Amino acid sequence: MPIPQSFIEQLRMSCDIEDVVSSYVSLKRAGRNKTCLCPFHSEKTPSMVVYEDTQSFYCFGCGAGGDVITFIRRIENLDYVEAVKLLASRAGLTVPEDGQSDRTSRLKQRILELNREAARFFHSCLKSPAGQKGMAYFKKRQLSPKTITAYGLGYAPDSWDSLRKHLFQKGFTDEEMYAAAVVAKGRNGGYYDQFRNRVMFPIIDLRGNVIAFGGRVLDDQKPKYLNSADTPVFKKSRNLFSLNFAKNEAGGRLILAEGYMDVIAIWQAGFHNVVATLGTALTPEQARLISQYAKEVVIAYDSDGPGQAATHRAVGLFEEVGVSAKVLGITGAKDPDEYIKKFGTTRFKMLIEGANSVADFELHKLRQEFDLDTEDGKVEYLKKAVQFLSGLINPLEREVYAGKIAGEIGVNRETILAQAKALAAKKKKAQDKREWREIETNRAVYRDRINPQRAKFLKEAKAEEGILAFVFKNPDSLEYIESRLPENGFVTDFNARVFRIIKDKIQKNITLDLTAVSGELSPEEMGRVAGIIAAAEQSENTKKQLDDYIDVLIQHNNKVDSGNVGTLSPQEIYERIKQSKQK
Ligand code: GTP
Ligand code: MN
Repeated sequence: MPIPQSFIEQLRMSCDIEDVVSSYVSLKRAGRNKTCLCPFHSEKTPSMVVYEDTQSFYCFGCGAGGDVITFIRRIENLDYVEAVKLLASRAGLTVPEDGQSDRTSRLKQRILELNREAARFFHSCLKSPAGQKGMAYFKKRQLSPKTITAYGLGYAPDSWDSLRKHLFQKGFTDEEMYAAAVVAKGRNGGYYDQFRNRVMFPIIDLRGNVIAFGGRVLDDQKPKYLNSADTPVFKKSRNLFSLNFAKNEAGGRLILAEGYMDVIAIWQAGFHNVVATLGTALTPEQARLISQYAKEVVIAYDSDGPGQAATHRAVGLFEEVGVSAKVLGITGAKDPDEYIKKFGTTRFKMLIEGANSVADFELHKLRQEFDLDTEDGKVEYLKKAVQFLSGLINPLEREVYAGKIAGEIGVNRETILAQAKALAAKKKKAQDKREWREIETNRAVYRDRINPQRAKFLKEAKAEEGILAFVFKNPDSLEYIESRLPENGFVTDFNARVFRIIKDKIQKNITLDLTAVSGELSPEEMGRVAGIIAAAEQSENTKKQLDDYIDVLIQHNNKVDSGNVGTLSPQEIYERIKQSKQK
């Protein structure tokens, strides 16, 4: 094991699981423990529990669980060593070096240092005489010096090698620059600066690291924006521009814009809770990320066709992660940046405050598809509108919009409402049927990937889990359990392995908790172990229960062996009978 156990124990003492978890999701007290919405699957009511005394978490909805290290591994998508390092730096501890500290994490570290140096370089270029063009551009776009500094904006000189030379001086190699994607490789194998004659937008992660860059041309050349390729420290689909600022300002609400300049203009207008995707459509991962900071999101995409289509898609993604979406109806300007310039900050504020509900947005879009001056148009619109109404869950909302539609085409509101209700009931019935069918099929094909033998030996596996939970809480009972259990007494391989790991820790005198075993189990396996322990919280864990569990395993072993009883000596048969009677 690369990290000494003593350090892991020190780390565990310094990282309270409640503190760590609550920096990602908000915790509510529930008796002795705390609960929250599980960040690992989408849900509207909390099913994750954080246990103070065992310093563990478990989600009864999706089975995610484990110790504080497992939590960080899952939520930050890190491997074990990286998660330990992150927690250590959070707690102000230094992980003891083991000399052969793995190469990828060292490369990542170098790339982050390199990126920071590159960002400094671009920023100082912007402020130097050579950067006048860049500065003029930002000025034209009405950015204030304060905004430029806050975002660390920069300028990449019109040259093939100025960044490369600078980074050389600072001790970085071509390979490192290439890995960071700030240089490209030419046909003859030489390297050259990726960003040239562009204004530069550093992309900063939640920990304040510069992880990538976006660069814009100063005129209308193509490509207008150049974004860093994915690197070991950057995944486009998983990050959001300006989330480092927005996360502290969110207050449950975020504004989602389409591009760098929109974010910066909105920020400058006084809304610091604004983010953007990085030159791609919103991904499910980003929607989930947003759901960790906001219950409500205002979508401020471009007012053009593609922007509206993207809005529509985003609404769907937010619905899936339980974030309520509102849509900013921008009229008279192409995007928020242009809107603010044209109409001013105050009007933009009003626009944000009055952001249309999604229903308004969808209905408005629908209406544009039909000619309401003709009877046919009205009938077709009505059909579609009723369908739309039937999809609204909130009855009050349904009534409000039924009223609006009624006004638009001059029919009775109650009629529309009745039709919508009937349609909704029909849909609900079909939905129920579908869900039941899914449950049936799932049951048939359900495979337990972590403990594939569990279904076949359910009774034994449950007994094993009872024993694991018991010994976990009462390490002193190990000797007793071993004295009664036959050799290789566990039936399922996974539980047997967990038992071996636990036994090893007890024998080495390591304080037994989930952190003690998390170096040897994957996050999924940790989830299972946390589940086993969480299940035991609900029972009494008496010695009698423990004996019953052991009996189940003894019986199983005897059954398996009964076929070859003939080969046992009388002494062995006697031992076996004694064993199964002993209490
Ligand atoms: P400005 O013209 O500077 O106001 O930019 P904008 O934010 O209005 O740009 P637009 O709506 O055209 O694009 C929105 C976002 O899409 C940008 O911020 C970029 O992230 C991305 N984008 C735009 N053009 C390109 C391009 O040519 N290549 C790539 N990779 N991304 C682009
Ligand atoms: Mn724009």
